Amino acid sequence: MSDRTLDLLRDGYTFADTVRARIGNLATRAAPLKLMGGPALLIRGTEAVRFFYDTDKFRRAGAMPLAVKAPLFGRGAVHGLDDDSHRHRKQLFMHATTPERVEVLVAEVDREWARVLEGAGTLNVYEASVGVFGRAVLSWAGTGMDAPQMEDRAQRLAAIVEGFGVPGPPWVRAMLARRDSDAWAKGLITRARTDEGCAGQGAGQAPALDLVAAHRDADGQLLDEHTAGVELQNMVRPTIAVSRFAAFIALALHEHPDWVARLRAETTERGTTVGGPLARAFAHEVRRVYPFVPMLPARARCPMQWGGQQIRTGQRVLLDILGTNNDPGEWERPADFDPERFLDLDPTAIENFVPQGGGSAEAGHRCPGEDITVGLMAVTAAHLAGRDWTAEDAGMSFDLHRMPTRPQGGPVLQFTP
Ligand code: HEM
Repeated sequence: MSDRTLDLLRDGYTFADTVRARIGNLATRAAPLKLMGGPALLIRGTEAVRFFYDTDKFRRAGAMPLAVKAPLFGRGAVHGLDDDSHRHRKQLFMHATTPERVEVLVAEVDREWARVLEGAGTLNVYEASVGVFGRAVLSWAGTGMDAPQMEDRAQRLAAIVEGFGVPGPPWVRAMLARRDSDAWAKGLITRARTDEGCAGQGAGQAPALDLVAAHRDADGQLLDEHTAGVELQNMVRPTIAVSRFAAFIALALHEHPDWVARLRAETTERGTTVGGPLARAFAHEVRRVYPFVPMLPARARCPMQWGGQQIRTGQRVLLDILGTNNDPGEWERPADFDPERFLDLDPTAIENFVPQGGGSAEAGHRCPGEDITVGLMAVTAAHLAGRDWTAEDAGMSFDLHRMPTRPQGGPVLQFTP
């Protein structure tokens, strides 16, 4: 069996289907392959999600290749921890993302969009979203920066996500942005720990920066300044990365004008651009259909069998995220863009809907930022649907061979008065 690592870099989001096609079974839930010099198993579907999120069977330490981990998550991040140290560190993120805190952030984004869209003639959705989400989350996190500083930092954090998966200059730019942002975040942690102005704030009101600065690991020690800075970034950077989904929201509205009318009517009826059930369903369908995270790796703790395939101790198993969200064997009309499939139900209860991971956020590795993501996306969809605009089809195209991808042209919207 030949090694497929270079194919993964070349094929991008089409890699998983290519692997299945190569073994002559596009419908398979378990495709063996060789990756990064060792055997691996690519799995998808509901049973695969249950298997992958069984922490007795898999560990995360050493699972993510260093070339991805170093720029994207940073050294010592929660993503690569296991067992008690993971559960303990994860509590920090659960505290920082309570419904009350998410509500404050979404309200801030709502105000920012209203301000940015007021009288706007044209708008590059991706670039504008980096600014809107960046200013909102950096202020919400308690960084104490002024608007131009937040704008600049948001660009650098967005550059990490833009380049971490693309060999060559984009990856180098991502690493440089990571090094610079590590120093910035470490400085904030130092300041928060020495700043007596924060003393006396209850944990309920303390901003995310102060929660991270005060967090103690399972051994009772404060996180070292580098690691604390890394985890602060692990809240802020992915919030800014929701801008990639914002660009896909514009694409989806462009292609589905009936949904523009429905979202606009919902906002009029409810009298607010925040929290509309249709806008939230629209956000979920955008997360299901459009590519962001392609797959997730874990390493087997023991010898196992799954889907008729043998797995050795230490072997990589990859959960196919896109292939699970669009599996024709499990989803009705998976190729149709239909937000109604998410109306009136709790999407976290759909085991095979995994744009931000599966299983439990509290007990496992599932993303703690789903409420933030969906809240920001829904409010963005409501604002964009609330204006009249046109956009060139050309600006909507995105490259499935680049990870991560986004509509390359922004897209740019031309507003009509
Ligand atoms: C752009 C939207 C986002 C996407 C597509 C996304 C996706 C993901 C995915 C796929 C995982 C891995 C799950 C696993 O390893 O099993 C993850 C983990 C994580 N995400 Fe997100 N995420 C997003 C937004 C956010 C936000 C807004 C936050 C802010 C709190 C966040 C913080 C994290 C953290 C800290 C982890 C590590 C969790 C752990 O290992 O226990 N993410 N995310």
